[in-house]
This record gives sequence, structure tokens and C-alpha cells, in this order.
Amino acid sequence: MSPFNLQTCARANILALEPYRCARDDYKDDGTNVLLDANENAYGPSLPKVAVEKASSSATGTKGPEIDVEGLHRYPDPHQHDLKQLLCNLRNTHHHTSKTITPENLFVGVGSDEAIDGLLRCFCVPGRDRILVCPPTYGMYSVSAQVNDVGLVKVPLLPAPTFGIDIDAVTSALSNEKDIKLVYFCSPGNPTGSLLAKEDVKRILEHPTWNGVVVLDEAYIDFSPDGASMAEWVAEWPNLVVLQTLSKAFGLAGIRLGAAFASAPIVRLLNSLKAPYNISSPTSALASYAVSAEGIATMRGNLEKIVAQRNRLIQELPKIKGIGRLRGGTESNFLLYEILNAKGEADNVTALAVYETLAENKGVVVRFRGKEHGCLGCLRITVGTEDEVTRFLSAVEKTLTEIHAKQDGAPADEAKKEAEASGVVA
Ligand SMILES: Cc1ncc(COP(=O)(O)O)c(C=O)c1O
Repeated sequence: MSPFNLQTCARANILALEPYRCARDDYKDDGTNVLLDANENAYGPSLPKVAVEKASSSATGTKGPEIDVEGLHRYPDPHQHDLKQLLCNLRNTHHHTSKTITPENLFVGVGSDEAIDGLLRCFCVPGRDRILVCPPTYGMYSVSAQVNDVGLVKVPLLPAPTFGIDIDAVTSALSNEKDIKLVYFCSPGNPTGSLLAKEDVKRILEHPTWNGVVVLDEAYIDFSPDGASMAEWVAEWPNLVVLQTLSKAFGLAGIRLGAAFASAPIVRLLNSLKAPYNISSPTSALASYAVSAEGIATMRGNLEKIVAQRNRLIQELPKIKGIGRLRGGTESNFLLYEILNAKGEADNVTALAVYETLAENKGVVVRFRGKEHGCLGCLRITVGTEDEVTRFLSAVEKTLTEIHAKQDGAPADEAKKEAEASGVVA
């Protein structure tokens, strides 16, 4: 049984916050009122009339998101109740609980990055409190911590290819280290692509002495098998927050819409702390469409194509000389592969050379992850379209052949010297 207590865990100044209220919280805009309360511009958006008409008719003339371009001179809805309900409908799968989550269990923000930062500000006193992260993991947890003057406790994941939670080490850190308020887990992990075991997350949620919150980042969850999302589990665990985003499977990174599922009291804190109008009207309209039945069908169609290309990469990459082991899982829209030198060993010099050559000479950009914990010699490759995967496979094969030939022909340590000269240590 967790001793979690929001009143002693969250920052006192945040607990005392009153959410910002606008006049329209008291007097709804029913379309008949003259709105002289928010210092908006009643003459309308400063967009050429023809552009407004075109955008309005193309947005409403066909089936699709209804963006009210003419209404953009008004502030957006600060509460986003309808969008939250649609997100709840998507995640009330009852795989993990018979309880139902409601808009009270949801915070929506400018990408999930806003929730990552908001949680830190809700719970961590700058200069004193800390968060626990499990490398290799998403970099924004530590960036946000640093911005907020919050310290880091690092407990690495178990070695590849499982990349699971080191339960004993995390449990012991939470028992022995002072002032850890949040644990950020990523499932499926970035860059690991592995889902964390539900039982492991439960063990941390049940920690017998730790008064803190488990944040489970599910940015890539829709690439995993059905039922994998734990979002609805927040109805069971007051110390669990689940983060999601429309940036990945829904293909809407450009609109910046992320969500934090949590108990109603935690959501109230996040809402009190946020800027009042953080979700723009176009973002809200596009997001609502994306999580409607039609949007979800489109997402699932794209998902099938991504999974097919992911399978193709898993089949084709091992046939290429110089591609080593798949280091993580396959439950995401990227894969983490080792790159081998001419001697068949994973090393960062070769991985970095492949990364740079692909980008500079072949026009293919992947991500070098060799400096992340447990990822020696690794590149993270996002699954692209069929044509993009074709182009990548051909480019990486050629690149590896060229680099190996150079390594074979060059004095043994020349490549290393080159890397040292460019500031990269293997
Ligand atoms: C694990 C993880 N969480 C969160 C994010 C941020 O997502 P958003 O675009 O919603 O801010 C990313 C982006 O790459 C990610 O990899």
C-alpha cells in the first residue's frame, strides 16, 4: 500500500493556487452576447478576407475538422471538455480496470512536453527535490528538471534487449534517496522501443514508504499491441500519471497536443498551473477530429503501413553487412540497431560515421544514440514510408560498404583519430 499523499507530496504554493477564471466561465458565450470582456479584436482576424473564406469553406465544405477561421479573434476554450471526453472514450478500454475515466482525469497541453514540465513544477521544489529517470530514456525529463533546478537520480534500465525496469535498484533508490518526488518511466521506451511490464510498474506504485508519483510516458503506445495503454489505470492509482500525445501514431506533431491522464486532484493542480489558453482553437478542432471515429480509422490505416515497414526493416536490416543486433523492442515506430566496424564489433566511431555519411552524402537523417546508456554503437531509425525505407536500406548498405573499405584499408587507428579530432569519443 503506497503512502502517497498529495497534500504532502505536491508543492504548497501549487496546492494553494486558484485556477485562472475568465468572465466566460461565469457567462457562457451562447452566440448572442456582445463580448467586451477579454480585450479581443471584434473586427476579426487580420487575415485577407479571401483566405478566411477559402479556409472556412474548405474546412467545413467537406467531411473533416471544422476550423472556425472567422472566429480566431476569440480566445480558445480554456477547459477543452469535449476533446477530453473523446480522449477518454479512446482510452476507456477496460483492459486494466472496470472503472471509467472522465474529463476530470485529463489535462491537455502543448504536446506532452508541457505535462512533463508541469508535473515537475507541481511536485518539485527547485533546488531541493529530485526526479528519478531510467536511462536510456527520453531527454526532456532531464532538460525540464535542469530548467526547474530539480536534481536527477539515474537508475539505468536492465541491459538490452529487455531494457526492463531494474526493480530492486529503483525500489532501493526510492527507499534511501531523499526528496525524490517523481519517477519518469517511458513505455514503450525511447530509444528502447520496449514496453515496460505492467507488474514492474505496479511494484513501484506499491512502494511501501515512498510518497511520490509514477509518470508513465506512453508517447508511442499506439504502435504497441491493443490494450497496452495503462491510461485508464489512473482510476485505480492516485499516484500514477500517464502521458500521451497526438504527435506520433496520430501524425499530428505540428499541432502540439499532449495529454496527462491522472487522478482528478492531480489534474486540478496541472490545470491551476497552466496558462489559461494553452490549446489553440485550430489545435482543438484538429485534435478532436483525429480522435473521432473517422480520425481513429485513419490512424489505424497508417499504423498498418508503419507496422508493415517496421517488419520489413526487421527482415532486411540483418542481411546488410555491418548491421548488428536489434537492441530494443519492436513496439514503437522506430528501431534501435547496432552498427558494426569492419571487425564486426559495435562501436561509436563507425555508428557516428554512418550517421554523418547518411545525412551529409545520402540525404537520409537518422539518430545517433551511441552515447546513451547501454546503446553502444546504436542508431535509432524511425520507420518511414515504403519509399523512404527503400531509400534508407540502400543508403545504409552503400555507406557501410564504403566505411568498412576505408577501415580495412586504413591504418588500424586512423578512424579513431578522425573521430577524436571531431570531438567524439568511442
Ligand atoms: C517518449 C517521448 N515522450 C514525449 C515526447 C514529446 O511529445 P510531444 O510532441 O507530445 O511534446 C516525445 C517526443 O519525441 C517522446 O519521444
